[in-house]
Amino acid sequence: MSAPLPGRLAGKVALVTGAGRRGGLGAAIARRFIEEGADIVLTDLGRPAGPLLDGDNIGTLDEMHAVAQGLMAAARAADSPGRVHVSACDVRDEAAVAKTVAETVAAFGQIDILVNNAGVGFVMRPLIELSMEEWNLVQEVNLRGPFLFTKYAGRRMVQQHEGGWSGGRIINIASKGAKSAIADFGAYAASKHGLLGLTRVAALELARYGVTVNAVCPNHVTTGLGARQNQHRGQRMGKTVDEVLAYRATQVPLGRLGRPEDTAEACVFLASEAASFITGEAMNVSGGEEMR
Ligand SMILES: NC(=O)c1ccc[n+]([C@@H]2O[C@H](COP(=O)([O-])OP(=O)(O)OC[C@H]3O[C@@H](n4cnc5c(N)ncnc54)[C@H](O)[C@@H]3O)[C@@H](O)[C@H]2O)c1
Repeated sequence: MSAPLPGRLAGKVALVTGAGRRGGLGAAIARRFIEEGADIVLTDLGRPAGPLLDGDNIGTLDEMHAVAQGLMAAARAADSPGRVHVSACDVRDEAAVAKTVAETVAAFGQIDILVNNAGVGFVMRPLIELSMEEWNLVQEVNLRGPFLFTKYAGRRMVQQHEGGWSGGRIINIASKGAKSAIADFGAYAASKHGLLGLTRVAALELARYGVTVNAVCPNHVTTGLGARQNQHRGQRMGKTVDEVLAYRATQVPLGRLGRPEDTAEACVFLASEAASFITGEAMNVSGGEEMR
């Protein structure tokens, strides 16, 4: 029997934020990365952190470990040598971000791929009713978090480049809301528009070190976060969640809703050697909905 071909990310070390929630985009991205041979640093919040970041909105430590076990099973099923290291980290906390990047290097010796996926999308309120606490939370998780991880992982990638290494990748999970307006999502849309600005500046600054920086812009996917949005839309439109989902599918030219795997495949491509000449882009993964 011939040996399996090495995966597209064989020998790479990938850190994925917000990856500790079952059914989330981060968990799907980490799964496809480990199937392609990467070692994974799985990070998430791990514990309640304030009145809005608790309960059903976060990946707890138990859930992170359960997702990690699922990743190891996926690696074995794919004949991948990939390993998993779990690191709880609040992406808003500069010291915690620096520690998680240092832990990554201690665990696996390097960092090749950073996916800024952690995000808050459950604050849904008209701008004239939005509290400072809600506004700040969304900006801090969705924009300051990616900035901090770009700063510390980027520094490490620069050092690695000076040691003769090349080929770093930073992927920011933005949104359809990074390019268009959505009522009741003012803080979210502003943070995701900002994330595209961060993506472009980081792409410009890190290009000389062989690091590409791109964003992925998915439309609706029914994750934990997506389910909260469906309930809100249903209330606003006077429809059931099933009716909301059926309506949403009609808005997608390719005729179905997005799945976590759609975003994960785009990330595998952007992380792979095949995308080495692509930087500063914001790729839609929306079945064509962005054209509307
Ligand atoms: N689901 C969608 O429809 C959709 C569409 C476009 C973009 N996105 C983006 O995809 C990303 C993942 O979202 P998802 O839909 O998988 O939802 P999700 O709720 O499953 O994932 C978000 C994760 O972010 C984590 N998080 C929140 N605050 C954090 C903090 N302070 N520090 C560390 N982690 C924190 C949560 O614990 C959670 O695991 C988000 O950036 C979201 O904006 C989602």
